[in-house]
Amino acid sequence: MKFDIAKSGSGLTYEIRNIVKVADELIKNGREVYFENIGDPVIKGEKIPEWMKGIIKEVVDDDLSFAYSPTKGVLSTRQFLAEQVNKKGGVQITADDIIFFNGLGDAIARSYSSMRVDARVIMPEPTYSTHLLAEVLHASFPPNTYKMNPYNNWHPDMNELERKVKSHNSIVGILVINPDNPTGFVYPEETLRRIVEIAKKYDLFLIFDEIYNNMTYNGQKTLSLCEIIGDVPGISMKGISKECPWPGARCGWIEVYNADKDSAFKRLIDAILNQKMAEVCSTTLPQMAIPKLMSHPEYEKYLHERVVHYEKLSNIAYNVLKDVPYTIVNRTNGAFYMTVAFNEAVLNNKQFLKIDDESVRKFVEKITTENIEYDKRFVYYLLGATGICVVPLTSFFTHLPGFRMTLLEKDVEKFEANMKRLAKAIVEYVESAK
Ligand SMILES: Cc1ncc(COP(=O)(O)O)c(C=O)c1O
Repeated sequence: MKFDIAKSGSGLTYEIRNIVKVADELIKNGREVYFENIGDPVIKGEKIPEWMKGIIKEVVDDDLSFAYSPTKGVLSTRQFLAEQVNKKGGVQITADDIIFFNGLGDAIARSYSSMRVDARVIMPEPTYSTHLLAEVLHASFPPNTYKMNPYNNWHPDMNELERKVKSHNSIVGILVINPDNPTGFVYPEETLRRIVEIAKKYDLFLIFDEIYNNMTYNGQKTLSLCEIIGDVPGISMKGISKECPWPGARCGWIEVYNADKDSAFKRLIDAILNQKMAEVCSTTLPQMAIPKLMSHPEYEKYLHERVVHYEKLSNIAYNVLKDVPYTIVNRTNGAFYMTVAFNEAVLNNKQFLKIDDESVRKFVEKITTENIEYDKRFVYYLLGATGICVVPLTSFFTHLPGFRMTLLEKDVEKFEANMKRLAKAIVEYVESAK
């Protein structure tokens, strides 16, 4: 090439996928791997019900499902979704306030990249990587974050949030993920109302990622942004990847609240729409299926059954892990992730787990010789020794070492057995070189 043609990255990588490369290496060496790292219910064995498949087949029979759709998305589907929002009795919207994307990941990338480089959105720490990567890529500057506190059930530090938005003039928006990925935290009403108050007081807009909003359990309830936002400008991000579950459809959308109340916010939404126009439209077929799926008599029941399963696994994991020394463990109450943090200073670069298979041991030793984060080292040894594949917590852009796993396993006994092996491995690892 005449010159270096690749754009230099932000230096941040999406570790959730990198771990898979390591796991693949282990599979090549004949080891069984238990994937607890990726939030895809279908890959984890979720059986898609026949009535759902029937609806998709019906939609395929309509030639229009092969066509482009309007840039914002299929009108009747946006009307259906606007009605769902309006039924909640909070802010009222129309089909015009909804824009579809090719998955929520696409919506996230386009939303941040439509902002001025010096306009920043403050995010939770740890945070779901796609938000942080997109925000940092747009600004080319380190992120602004507010901490989720593991010593307080992962409740965010609201004083830190207010202090930062007050002192950083560049912060124009607050991101909330509710229920949260990776912590599984479910925001109580009073915290949500306080965040809306802060946004109003400092003239900010809100981004609420609500992809897991209908997945809460253990008696926890939460509210949607549309119910509490009042007249503050905001964007709710939603999708069908987790709820349906249909991640392969690549279909998500944003709901825009109060665009008419702030001209600068309205210009941001116009910029997002302009980007979308350059691409024509998003995936048509899943959009056409949404109203049929969501208003089917079995939809709520099926979602409820899955949520009950996540509740069960959340309690199994919590009961097995809560008394494991060296860690901070909170019960997950929403979404399908659980995060375990290590206590301060318990990890170092000498610890290891015994790996029987020699070639696997050598491979793990090779990838842990470099100066890597201590939790990453733990994750690789855990994978090599037990086949349990989780994600290091530092991949979610926090200094707190730990790991995130999923609650998606369909086989309850296998899950419980894995939790017990995990508990034992944590102790063995920490004590191998204290
Ligand atoms: C909080 C959160 N937002 C957005 C997404 C992206 O979803 P999609 O599959 O629609 O791109 C995920 C996927 O894991 C997620 O956890």
